[in-house]
Amino acid sequence: MKAIVYETYGSPDVLQVREIATPEPGDKDVLVRVHATSVNYGDLAGRNFAAVTPRAFNMPLLFWVMAKLYFGLGKPRNGILGSEFSGEVESVGKDVTAFRKGDAVFGYLGQKMGAYAEYLSMPESGPIAAMPTTMNFEEAAVAPYGAMMALHLLRKAQIRPGQKVLVNGASGGIGSAAVQIAKYFGADVTGVCGGPRMDYVNSLGADTVIDYKKEDFTQRGEEYDLIVDIRGRLPFSRAKRALKAGGSILYISFKMKHLFQMLATSIFGSRKVKCGIAPGNRDDLLAVRSLIEQGQLKTVVAERFAMSQAAEAHRMVEEGKNSGAVVIQVV
Ligand SMILES: NC(=O)c1ccc[n+]([C@@H]2O[C@H](COP(=O)([O-])OP(=O)(O)OC[C@H]3O[C@@H](n4cnc5c(N)ncnc54)[C@H](OP(=O)(O)O)[C@@H]3O)[C@@H](O)[C@H]2O)c1
Repeated sequence: MKAIVYETYGSPDVLQVREIATPEPGDKDVLVRVHATSVNYGDLAGRNFAAVTPRAFNMPLLFWVMAKLYFGLGKPRNGILGSEFSGEVESVGKDVTAFRKGDAVFGYLGQKMGAYAEYLSMPESGPIAAMPTTMNFEEAAVAPYGAMMALHLLRKAQIRPGQKVLVNGASGGIGSAAVQIAKYFGADVTGVCGGPRMDYVNSLGADTVIDYKKEDFTQRGEEYDLIVDIRGRLPFSRAKRALKAGGSILYISFKMKHLFQMLATSIFGSRKVKCGIAPGNRDDLLAVRSLIEQGQLKTVVAERFAMSQAAEAHRMVEEGKNSGAVVIQVV
């Protein structure tokens, strides 16, 4: 099969299309003929992990060490990126009951990755499900990652109808889903992003959109019940100014200090810090599909690239030139 592989860490040019062995599904596995996959934060980090310092990695040091070992110390261990996909079931192992050849599916491989290939194999019990009936292959391929993360973590933050919610980083993979899911939960939503993507965030249903390059939202005099900080760069000391008493900041990316702040604010203070890891499991994928089919969640495909143009696709995302998702068309 054809796959986009990388043998060294580096710029987008390390991505090359090669012929490699097609995976063999085990008895409980599903072999998927991939139609489309995406370029998101994890693909960029994984492609050039040698350059991702513990400081630049938006998670605790231990997570960085684990990711470093997982991706490979000196060179990539796995060699195929792609955390989300859509496609058709090509074949199933003898014990598989939930899928059969020809089913249209979408799914999430997480940090394991491997969707930048014509075929992938995964357990039927994993995050793979029938594709939403209301989406085409490209729209479905870019749905799992951002929406599964956003849904899981917003639920964890106990989002409620009528709340004022601000998403700091509303135009990216997780933020664009968080805006829509917060609206679905009945919140009044403010999205914060860079100027070029304001129209995009508006089109996702945000009630207010703020350009972080022009305005510091913590100086607006507005107070929120929940601030969702995607990149984990907003200090709690500043966020507090824009939180109501009883309000919380949810760090999607977090460091050790945020975990200590979470512990401390669970005991003291009226403004809380929350952090958590979204497991990216099948239940969350099914919940995402349901939201899509109810018309509560959409994906916007900004640009499509062939497998041979993977480097261009990565460059576009790295340079922040896309308003919406970037798809790699595999079939
Ligand atoms: N907790 C978990 O389980 C979990 C799971 C997966 C990922 N993560 C974390 O999530 C992060 C990636 O999220 P993502 O995929 O949504 O990233 P992304 O697609 O790269 O989006 C980043 C967002 O941040 C915005 N941004 C950049 N600088 C900003 C600033 N100074 N102020 C406000 N917003 C700013 C960007 O806005 P513009 O582009 O418009 O400038 C964009 O909306 C990573 O740090 C990763 O560690 C956490």
